[in-house]
Amino acid sequence: MIQKPKGTYDVFGKKGKDLIYIHDIIQVLMEKYNYEYMRTPIFESSELYHRGVGETTDIVSKETYDFKDRGDRFMTLRPEGTAGIVRSYIENKMYGNPNQPVKAWYYGPMFRYERPQAGRYRELNQFGVEVFGSNDPLMDAEVISIPVNLYKILGLKGIKVNINTLGDIESRLKYREALLEYFNPHLNELCEDCRNRYETNPLRILDCKVDHDLDIMKNAPKISEYLNETSINHFNKVKEYLESMGIDYEVNENLVRGLDYYTHTVFEIEAQVEGFGSQNVLCGGGRYDSLVNTLGGPEICGVGFATGIERLLTALEYENKLPSDNDSVDTYIIPMDEESKKLGIKITNILRMNGFSSEIDGMSRNIKGNFKQADRIGTKYVIIIGEEEIKSNTLTIKNNNTKEEYKMNLEELIDFLDENIEEDHHED
Ligand code: HAM
Repeated sequence: MIQKPKGTYDVFGKKGKDLIYIHDIIQVLMEKYNYEYMRTPIFESSELYHRGVGETTDIVSKETYDFKDRGDRFMTLRPEGTAGIVRSYIENKMYGNPNQPVKAWYYGPMFRYERPQAGRYRELNQFGVEVFGSNDPLMDAEVISIPVNLYKILGLKGIKVNINTLGDIESRLKYREALLEYFNPHLNELCEDCRNRYETNPLRILDCKVDHDLDIMKNAPKISEYLNETSINHFNKVKEYLESMGIDYEVNENLVRGLDYYTHTVFEIEAQVEGFGSQNVLCGGGRYDSLVNTLGGPEICGVGFATGIERLLTALEYENKLPSDNDSVDTYIIPMDEESKKLGIKITNILRMNGFSSEIDGMSRNIKGNFKQADRIGTKYVIIIGEEEIKSNTLTIKNNNTKEEYKMNLEELIDFLDENIEEDHHED
C-alpha cells in the first residue's frame, strides 16, 4: 500500500468540518478588519526565499523542498507566506495603489522539511496577514490584535502574548556588535548551532533551546540597552495601543524569531493549555522595514503575522472548543421505485437551489433502511415519492422528529419548509 508522505495528513470526516469552521470564522473576521484576500503560487523561484527569508535561517538552509523544473529553473515549495506576498506586492506595483496601507490576508499550505512530531508537520497550513506602507505603530498593534481576537472568538482561554523589539536597523546593528563582542570569549561554551549563529545571525543565539540555561545566556547584553530613541518610541506606542485594546502582553527580551527580515516589533502567541506539548507557539510575526527593498521594491515597510492552523486546531481540541459533530439535513427524499427517482432528483435539485440542504437515497435502500439513514444524517423532513404521489401530484412529507405526516404539492412544500425550518443557512 502506498502511504502518505511523512509529516503530512489527510483531511476527512470531522477534521474537514473543523477546518471549514475555522476558515469561515477567519474569513468573516478579515471582512471586519477590511483586509483583502490574496493568493500567491505554492512554488516560487528559490532565490526569493534565499534573499527574502534569509540564507542562514534554519528554514532556508535546512528545511526547504527544492527542485529543478523541466526547464532547469530552481524552484522551492514555499516554506512561509511573507516572501511570496512581498514579491507579488512589488510585481503588481501595489505601492502605487491610492488605497493605503495595503492590507492582505492569506491562507494555505507551506512546506518545511522538519523532523515531524506533535504540532510539527512537513506540510502545514497558515493563516496570515501582511500590511504594507505604514510605519505607524498603530498597525503593529492592529496586526497583533488579529490572532488575539481570532483565538477569543474561537473560545481559546489560555493564551499568552509575548512581544519584543529588535529596534530599527541602526539599533539592531549596534546590538549585533555588542553580542559579537560579548560571546567571543565564550565561543567554546556554546553549542555547534550557536557557534554557527555567531557567524551568521548572533541574535538567534538568544533563543537557543540547547544553551538556554547557561549563565552566559542570562548575562548577555539586552537589546533594550541598545535601542535608539526612534526604536524606543515605536515600541512604547505599540504597547500603549495594545493596552488601549485591553490586550495583555509580556515583554520577552529573548524573543528574536527565526527569520531574518524583522525590525522593531516581533511577537509570538503561546497556547498555555495543559498537556499541549512543546510546539505550543500558535503564531508569530512582526515588522519588517527592509524586506520590500531587499526583494527589489521601493523602501516600503511591512508588518504581519501567521498562525499555524494545525496547532490552532489542536489547541481547540484540547480546550474542547470545536462544534459538535451533529449531522443535519433539511430534507431526505425516498424514491420508492425507478420512476420516482426522476421526480425525486428533480425535487432534490429544486430544494437545494432554494437553499435547503437535501439528500436523496443513492443506495436503493428499502423503506426501513431509508428511515435508518434519514436518522443517521439528522434529517428534519423525510419526503416519500412513489406511484401514488406521482399520480396525484402530491408529496408525502414526514416530520422526522414528531412523525407527523402532511400531503402537499411542490410549491406548498417550499413555503412549508420556509416557515418550519428556522435555519440561517438559506435565504428567506
Ligand atoms: P513562523 O514563526 O515561521 O513565521 O510560522 C508561523 C506559525 O506557523 C508558527 O507559529 C506555527 O504555529 C506555524 N508553523 C510553523 N512551522 C510549522 C510546522 N512545521 N508545523 C506546524 N506548524 C508550523 C512565519 O512563517 C512568518 N512568515 C510570519 C510572518 C508573517 N511574519 C511577518 N509576516
